[in-house]
Amino acid sequence: MSVTSPLPHDAAPLHVTGSARYIDDIPTPTGTLHLAFGQSEIARGRITEMDLTTVRSAPGVIAVLTADDLPFANDVSPSAHDEPLLSGGTVHHVGQAIFAVVARTHLAARKAARLGKVTYDEDEPLLSVEQAMKADSRFEDGPRIYEKGDTAAAIAAAPHVIEGSMEIGGQEHFYLEGQAALAVPGEGGDMLVHSSTQHPTEIQHKVAEAIGVPMHGVRVETRRMGGGFGGKESQGNALACICAVAAQRTGKACKMRYDRDDDMVITGKRHDFRITYRAGFDDTGRITGVEFMQYTRGGWAQDLTLPVADRAMLHADNAYLLPTARIESHRLKTNMQSATAYRGFGGPQGVVGIERVIDHIAHELGLDPVEVRKRNYYAEAPNVKGDNTTPYGQLVEDFELHGMTDALLKSSDYAARRAAIAEWNATHDIIKKGIAFSPVKFGISFTLTHLNQAGALVHVYQDGSVHLNHGGTEMGQGLFQKVAQVAASRFGIPLDMVKITATDTAKVPNTSATAASSGSDLNGMAVKAACDTIRDRLAEFLAERHQADAGAVRFGDGQVQVADATYSFAEVAGMAYAGRVSLSATGFYKTPKVEWDRIKGQGRPFFYFAHGAAITEVAVDTLTGENRILRADILHDAGASLNPALDIGQVEGGYVQGAGWLTTEELVWDDAGRLRTHAPSTYKIPACSDRPDVFNVALWDCENREDTIYRSKAVGEPPFMLGISAFLALSDAVAACGNAYPALDAPATAEQVWTAIQRVRHGV
Ligand code: MTE
Ligand code: MOS
Repeated sequence: MSVTSPLPHDAAPLHVTGSARYIDDIPTPTGTLHLAFGQSEIARGRITEMDLTTVRSAPGVIAVLTADDLPFANDVSPSAHDEPLLSGGTVHHVGQAIFAVVARTHLAARKAARLGKVTYDEDEPLLSVEQAMKADSRFEDGPRIYEKGDTAAAIAAAPHVIEGSMEIGGQEHFYLEGQAALAVPGEGGDMLVHSSTQHPTEIQHKVAEAIGVPMHGVRVETRRMGGGFGGKESQGNALACICAVAAQRTGKACKMRYDRDDDMVITGKRHDFRITYRAGFDDTGRITGVEFMQYTRGGWAQDLTLPVADRAMLHADNAYLLPTARIESHRLKTNMQSATAYRGFGGPQGVVGIERVIDHIAHELGLDPVEVRKRNYYAEAPNVKGDNTTPYGQLVEDFELHGMTDALLKSSDYAARRAAIAEWNATHDIIKKGIAFSPVKFGISFTLTHLNQAGALVHVYQDGSVHLNHGGTEMGQGLFQKVAQVAASRFGIPLDMVKITATDTAKVPNTSATAASSGSDLNGMAVKAACDTIRDRLAEFLAERHQADAGAVRFGDGQVQVADATYSFAEVAGMAYAGRVSLSATGFYKTPKVEWDRIKGQGRPFFYFAHGAAITEVAVDTLTGENRILRADILHDAGASLNPALDIGQVEGGYVQGAGWLTTEELVWDDAGRLRTHAPSTYKIPACSDRPDVFNVALWDCENREDTIYRSKAVGEPPFMLGISAFLALSDAVAACGNAYPALDAPATAEQVWTAIQRVRHGV
């Protein structure tokens, strides 16, 4: 097996036969209790009275917990300690947990949770950007500003200037497995927690604080998630902590899972943004300066809002060299769910901003938007003369998009199809078509530099089989498969000799969330280090026996060669065991080169960039605004792919999820701050039938110039932004209805598209 084989996901047979085990499938100890939260019905105010007698006497209820019953820390925040597990008296959003019911069954807990009689002293909630700005309600003292050059002067001197504003909606994660946790009390106050989480170490940390034990008293295990998408970086803390508190109190195993509506009402989503812009450019469409104002609603608690908003600023350039740029970011505190990580982590919102500017410029000058994009690209060669730096001062040494763009334009037959679409639009009134190209350049690394580290633990047993563990979590992306391929290739053994095991805080400590697309970069390297340590020991041991050079010992095809002898890997493991050689090792990796000042907005936050390019064609029914994607062509840069089959899966899924975000997925809150779209009946994610009819996805075959695991590149998040081409294609189709610029907001639902058509037709 070569390390880069397109093998299926290790759990694919389990997934498709329904036998993959998620939290709710774990056999529970007898007497396991079930939990549900009683939730705030108002968006902002103080609790004046809480009568829980009917809750306590409801069938099956064992206990009801309020903030006063929490023995230790009442905090589930991943950042600013501003997120109580149960409200201590003030409430900040509809759905906030104010008490917890512990009952014999899941249903009994949920039913009882509705019976609380709570009265409030209500305040006017801060919901909109305007309200929050007026009240100066934010997570930092003021806006954060990154600037390159004298932007105002550049815009003032530019031959053309445009300005505009757009709304970019949030997004529900809609992982198929909802948030869930199971806490099993052990002896001496220890706690075992099974959690559907991207971040087992943080669950361990928060649970330890909640039950008043050192971190060594809590072990967290995660075999897999049924999807995370960022929604399980921090949002699982509350369930794990309340289960552990209840388990400590009752001595019974305690389990909690949100049903879909609760999950949508309680947990945070993608940050929505308002972006206003002003850009100066020349006759060819070359930008000379651009100013962005980014306003984001972070919800009631800080959670990950600061790094998400930072990443939006760091992607305000996307693929374009901006000679001058000024980005001002407002992180607003509002009375809604606490917005959180979501695939791209703010990056997509920043990218939409600049793609909108380019689309607007092309419309203004009557140029093909692809040309305008290419003219504004960063330079390709690493040693270009002149400026090739981002607005945050990182030199772009690594830029694949010139070659990728030309290859994709060719393979997708862009020029001919664009001409055919123009012809179609000239002769058809009702159905209009549109086509658009969008590129992505996405920075890889956690912007909080110390998070760029990972550990692994590898055992070789005396029969030559291998037990593999690392700090990354599996959420469907195929991380475990990729890392197992790395381990198998280091020892030169077949993949079925490598056992993939659940992520476990007792095996690898102090891990980062599996996030920022860095799972295989970090854990692949840590596993490689651990395997190589064992391999070196084996080589030395054999070399000594055969009086050979350790460097000449060869591992491959399940065999080990030393001098004239050939052993099976199993024989070597057995001999090494008998020879008292340690067959277990840890591995550690930290990303080199990254260093960055997030306050100044200067440095090198990213080890490297991953690239992608997409072309989408859509058709719009101008009578109703209904639309669909007819065709998508994608070329994506996964470096020297560790597993092309899994990577193509990530690209397809990312594109569809990105297109869903910008088209049909609409979150609606009413004036009282209640989320009205809290189920699939009202919140429309893409279905299988919404995939493009023609969907051509290919990988750009090119090694990472940086020294990553087998020169691969991270692939989890970047393709999400390729969905932007679907949004731009809708803009193109609407533009065919008149002369004005469509200026679509996102999501471009059918209603939005219809309204924009009226605007463009009638110039209003
Ligand atoms: N793919 C699947 N199937 N399910 C997921 O939950 N999460 C995405 C992406 N792809 C996700 C996914 C997000 S938000 C990230 S950060 C990466 O996977 C995390 O995994 P990686 O670092 O191993 O790529
Ligand atoms: Mo992904 S949003 O970094 O979990």
